[in-house]
Amino acid sequence: MTVNFNKVSYVYQRGTPFEHLALRDVVTSFEQGKYYAIIGQTGSGKSTLIQHFNGLLKPSKGALQVDDVTITHKTKDKQLKQLRKRVGVVFQFPESQLFEDSVEREIMFGPKNFDMPLDEVKDRAFHLLLDFGFNRDILQQSPFQMSGGQMRKIAITSILAMDPDVVILDEPTAGLDPKSRKQIMELIKKLQIEQNKTIILVTHEMNDVAKYVDEVKIMKRGKLIESCSPRKLFSDTNYVNQLHLDVPDIVKLQRDIEDKYQYDFSKIALTEAEFIAMYKEWRQDER
Ligand SMILES: Nc1ncnc2c1ncn2[C@@H]1O[C@H](COP(=O)(O)OP(=O)(O)OP(=O)(O)O)[C@@H](O)[C@H]1O
Ligand SMILES: [Mg+2]
Repeated sequence: MTVNFNKVSYVYQRGTPFEHLALRDVVTSFEQGKYYAIIGQTGSGKSTLIQHFNGLLKPSKGALQVDDVTITHKTKDKQLKQLRKRVGVVFQFPESQLFEDSVEREIMFGPKNFDMPLDEVKDRAFHLLLDFGFNRDILQQSPFQMSGGQMRKIAITSILAMDPDVVILDEPTAGLDPKSRKQIMELIKKLQIEQNKTIILVTHEMNDVAKYVDEVKIMKRGKLIESCSPRKLFSDTNYVNQLHLDVPDIVKLQRDIEDKYQYDFSKIALTEAEFIAMYKEWRQDER
């Protein structure tokens, strides 16, 4: 599935005192099978942007092309039903929207409405839940007796069980413990690598951007100001600071070592493994 934003603008509450231009002429595109991060300061329009992918919000001006479907302010919800099966959105704090009294009913709610093959969905959900570390009797349990982190995993599973081509996640690990964060991030990466899903991750976690992402899109006051690789972005610490963002821990470590030993590595490392390899090479050259 390819997605093209063609000068998309979005205005909240037009004609009221609360009117707010949240997206300004956004032009950008997304390809199948790539992992994208959408980053930017709070209020920059990230959540507004992602709600356009399946027409939950429709452009006030401009258009979106999602494969052969064009979404404009005139598009009716009826025309978007097929698309909504293929684009799964996990909202910020999705656990707050759980409402069924068993995990199975919660997970089957969406697929039933979309006339999906329920046995397949249930099977997929069950295996995702085992991956998340739940027991085999999880489907019969009530989400409301669970911790916040467990509820988050149930909510994410309910979207992934529908097997969407495009998986959009709005800060899926915010407020979770390190183990849950890692479980979720590793599972999402696996979906991209093994099943060629498109991943769109809204995040403030630069360590995750460095580790998992192919392309970063930066939002600033409703504008999409840059699309580039994480390596290009994090190579320029001044630019990152100007954007009020942070560099990943591994890049901070590298910069500290460079300062201390007055040495410049030829490129930045984005993972620990990459850094260790660069570091070893440098030490060997010194001998
Ligand atoms: N219902 C609304 N009515 C009016 N303005 C809104 C509404 N929802 C969002 N906004 C405004 O639109 C802008 C973009 O909001 P959005 O939620 O897309 O930002 P964000 O980048 O996701 O921020 P965060 O990192 O805090 O989640 C903000 O200035 C916000 O105040
Ligand atoms: Mg948001």
